[in-house]
Amino acid sequence: MNEAIRLGSETASQNPQQTKGLPELSIVVPTFNERDNVARLYRKLEAALTGIAWEVVFVDDNSPDGTWNVVRELARQDNRVRCIRRIGRRGLSGACIEGILASSAAYAAVMDADLQHDETQLPKMLSLLQGGQAELVVGSRYIEGGSADSFDRQRAGFSALATSIARRVLGVAIADPMSGFFMIRRDRFEQLAPKLSTQGFKILLDIVATAHGELKTVEVPFTFGTRLHGESKLDSMVALDFLGLVLAKFSNDTVSLRFLLFAMVGGTGLFVHLATLFVALAWLGWSFPEAQTAGAFVAMTSNFILNNFLTYRDHRLKGVAILRGLFAFYLVCSVGLFANVGVAFSLYDQEPIWWLAGAAGALMGVVWNYAMSGLFVWRKR
Ligand code: GDD
Ligand code: MN
Repeated sequence: MNEAIRLGSETASQNPQQTKGLPELSIVVPTFNERDNVARLYRKLEAALTGIAWEVVFVDDNSPDGTWNVVRELARQDNRVRCIRRIGRRGLSGACIEGILASSAAYAAVMDADLQHDETQLPKMLSLLQGGQAELVVGSRYIEGGSADSFDRQRAGFSALATSIARRVLGVAIADPMSGFFMIRRDRFEQLAPKLSTQGFKILLDIVATAHGELKTVEVPFTFGTRLHGESKLDSMVALDFLGLVLAKFSNDTVSLRFLLFAMVGGTGLFVHLATLFVALAWLGWSFPEAQTAGAFVAMTSNFILNNFLTYRDHRLKGVAILRGLFAFYLVCSVGLFANVGVAFSLYDQEPIWWLAGAAGALMGVVWNYAMSGLFVWRKR
């Protein structure tokens, strides 16, 4: 079996035509609303990769603009093109992971569909991997010869800040861990894949941090171009995603990104609760039980709204489902409150340390609320 595989790739580099069906390089392109870019990218790949047996896997999250339709049309004309159309899911990292795992070549590249990445670097990246000089090659904007001219000042500032946080907190050694352009050895990727987060945008940072310095990495410079058609999908949420990933990796994956967001939202709920309590008592002159009840409801409602927009934005409830979800959330949280108080009481009974009992109760509450919300409020489709 191994022998056959080796023979296959040797022939591939000698005579790519003969082995058209056996790619040595898989290029994975995540897409969301890129219908006007994909055909152009395909032609550019074809021009840049002469002499290399390649395939391209587009992973489209059911784009409203019908990108998958355009890709399907390309795939009908060239069997090196494939399309994974994911329904009911969103996320750049998850799309890249799924695309790499669905491909079979010994090397996999990830690049954007909007022509901001430089496909003419791919042959050089491939030969670095094939020659054994690297297990991961990163297209870098921040080394000599690379640039990100198309960035406005704000985005450039964010990018630099995120890069320095990643380097300091996670000990990531490369210059551009935020790049979305890289090529990796399949076997190394498959080892790391189960530990990667499918949420968020920072797949390369995730790979590098998860490998803990054990991935031989080389950076090649490239110029981050201007987007051709359409618009960037990265919004202010990307900062939150980034922080979540840093925290998760820093804690050695003991806490998931989603749980962290859920707990952070819970933290804001405490402030909302206290603020409501204050307003109801001091300004509205309500009785304490009334004010406390109001505080709880306002906090649960604001937690629900925040979770719907942040924590579960890839499963966001819309329309009437919001109301159903809100009531389910009230229910989940009230049971969570019992769990919280129960645990705190019984702990305090054995060991009367108020802050330990209180914190244990709160932790119990948030774990319960998180687990049950995932099941009953934002059901995974
Ligand atoms: N399948 C899928 N699902 N694809 C997505 C999604 C998604 O939810 N969101 C974005 N994409 C695709 C886009 O269609 C595009 O091909 C690629 O991912 C990058 O998205 P852009 O919206 O163009 O991102 P950007 O140009 O602002 O950011 C790029 O540069 C950053 C570095 O500054 C990306 O490469 C980032 O990964 C990178 O960190
Ligand atoms: Mn882009």
